[in-house]
Amino acid sequence: LIAFFQPKVLAGQHVLVTAGPTYEAMDPVRGITNLSSGKMGFSIARAAREAGAEVALVAGPVHLSTPRGVQRVDVRSALDMQAAVAKHIDAASVFVATAAVADWRVADVAGQKIKKDGSGQLPQLSFVENPDILAGVAQSARAKNGALYCVGFAAESHDLLKHATAKRERKGVPLLVGNIGPATFGLDDNALLLVDAQGHQELPHANKLTLARQLVGEIARRLKTV
Ligand code: CTP
Ligand code: CA
Repeated sequence: LIAFFQPKVLAGQHVLVTAGPTYEAMDPVRGITNLSSGKMGFSIARAAREAGAEVALVAGPVHLSTPRGVQRVDVRSALDMQAAVAKHIDAASVFVATAAVADWRVADVAGQKIKKDGSGQLPQLSFVENPDILAGVAQSARAKNGALYCVGFAAESHDLLKHATAKRERKGVPLLVGNIGPATFGLDDNALLLVDAQGHQELPHANKLTLARQLVGEIARRLKTV
C-alpha cells in the first residue's frame, strides 16, 4: 500500500541498476567474488519502479526475488555485467551502479577443475583488471550531454567523505553515494552519504528500502536541475 502511494517522481524515466557482486571463475568449480547481498540495489530498483520509472536490473549472483514490475537480467562475471549494461544503456535516462564488481578476474581460467597433486604445490593465479563499468558509462556522449544521469556507490572502510569525493571526480559522475560504515553487507539497514557538486548530505540510518525511496527522491530532484 505504501508503494502505491509513492509520488511518481520518476514517471517517464528509464532507470538501469546494477546490483550484487560479480563472480570471477578460476576453474569450473571455483572462483573469487565480493561481499554484497544486492539488497541496496534491489531496493533502489523497487523504489524507482514505485516512483513510476521503467526499470531494468542487472544482477550478479544474489538470493533475492525480483521486485514487481522490474525487468531483471542475471549475470555472473564483470564482463557479463558490462555486456548486459551495454545492451540496456541506450534506453536508460538514469544509471545507478550499486554492484560490487570484482576489480580483477583470473587471467587464464582453467577449462577443467584444478587438482591438488599431493605435493603441496600451490596454483599460480594471475589476474587482469576488469573494465570499470560505471566509469565507461559516465564517459559516454549521452552521460556527458545530460541525457543520462549516472549515480555511483562506494563502500569504503575509512575516510568516507574524502574517498567518496575523490571517487566521484575520478568516475566523472554527478552523484556518488557512500555507505556509511561499518560494513552493512547483508544487513537490512544502512546510512548513506550523498556527494555531489554542491557538497554532501547524509541520509540517516534506516532500512534499505526507506533509504532507497529517499535516494530516488534525491535523484529525481537532481534530474530537474540538470
Ligand atoms: N564499478 C563498476 N565497475 C567496476 C568497479 C566499480 O561499475 N569494475 C562501480 C561500482 O558499481 C560503484 C563504483 O564503481 O558504483 C565504485 O566502486 P568501488 O569498488 O567503490 O570503486 P573502485 O573504483 O573499484 O575503487 P576501489 O575498489 O579501489 O575503492
Ligand atoms: Ca572496486
